[in-house]
Amino acid sequence: MPTAHSLRLHDDTRIPALGYGLWQVPIETSAVLVSRALRTGYRLIDTAEAYYNEEGVGEGIRDSGVAREEIFVTTKVWNTHHGYTQTLHAFDASQQRLGLDRIDLYLMHWPSRIRDAYVDTWRAMIRLRDESRVGAIGVCNFSTGQLQRLIGETGVKPVLNQIELHPYFQQKALRAFHHEQGIVTQSWSPLGLWWQNPEPAASPLEHPRIRELAKRHGKSPAQVILRWHLDSGLATISKSVRPGRIEENFQLFDFALTPSEMKMLAGLDRRDGRLGPDPETADF
Ligand SMILES: NC(=O)c1ccc[n+]([C@@H]2O[C@H](COP(=O)([O-])OP(=O)(O)OC[C@H]3O[C@@H](n4cnc5c(N)ncnc54)[C@H](OP(=O)(O)O)[C@@H]3O)[C@@H](O)[C@H]2O)c1
Repeated sequence: MPTAHSLRLHDDTRIPALGYGLWQVPIETSAVLVSRALRTGYRLIDTAEAYYNEEGVGEGIRDSGVAREEIFVTTKVWNTHHGYTQTLHAFDASQQRLGLDRIDLYLMHWPSRIRDAYVDTWRAMIRLRDESRVGAIGVCNFSTGQLQRLIGETGVKPVLNQIELHPYFQQKALRAFHHEQGIVTQSWSPLGLWWQNPEPAASPLEHPRIRELAKRHGKSPAQVILRWHLDSGLATISKSVRPGRIEENFQLFDFALTPSEMKMLAGLDRRDGRLGPDPETADF
């Protein structure tokens, strides 16, 4: 079985570079899909209280036959539970639904600028980490300014920031800030397909240069894009409810992109490439 790469977090622990994500995966199928992903070789499972499938994720982990210590489990606190006490309760509820003794990474799902409580939320997450109830803590969808405030007011850096990132939206400035701070960048929607705009023709999967690369390497466009994330030093999470694609999206470790191919892909970045909400203006 090919083995996935891992990346070092600034607390000196490691995180698998490739994960399986469960946004929009119904609870009824999540256990079977998690178990299948783990048996395929994925070692990071990404869920959230807002995905409403944590019970299924825990069940899939237990059913997989893969040892718990080999699996890296991430879940997230949702915006309605921002605030110190609320976050501590949200964590207990997630842990109970997952049925796991330990969560490897707890993330703040959005900064939720309209609540303006992300610093207190972060203080609760620091406590969970200090009490060893969670292995590491991080954030999602934070801008540079929001990260600076979080770090400035608490002195504690997130180990990673999980952000929208794909060939049409490469987030180069934010990644440079992460790099400077030792924060790992983890890409969500790595293929650049968005549920509110599910038109595959508009996605990087249909870009003629990406299709050409796929042909050259004997791979699919999705595999080329996911490999681009890994070769860019990013952690990434792919999602599919289809067994064939779960397998396909993991078969990335028998090829690599050349420097000139990486340069061509870097040129596909677009100023208007964001598909999801902008954390600086999001109103939820
Ligand atoms: N922190 C956040 O705010 C946030 C936001 C969004 C996502 N995430 C995380 O990131 C994960 C991945 O993001 P995502 O689900 O938006 O994006 P994605 O993995 O880029 O795309 C998922 C879409 O691509 C399709 N797909 C998967 N593999 C494919 C392949 N090989 N060829 C063609 N199409 C393929 C899937 O359809 P099928 O399922 O029908 O195959 C699905 O519609 C999520 O599941 C979640 O864990 C986090």
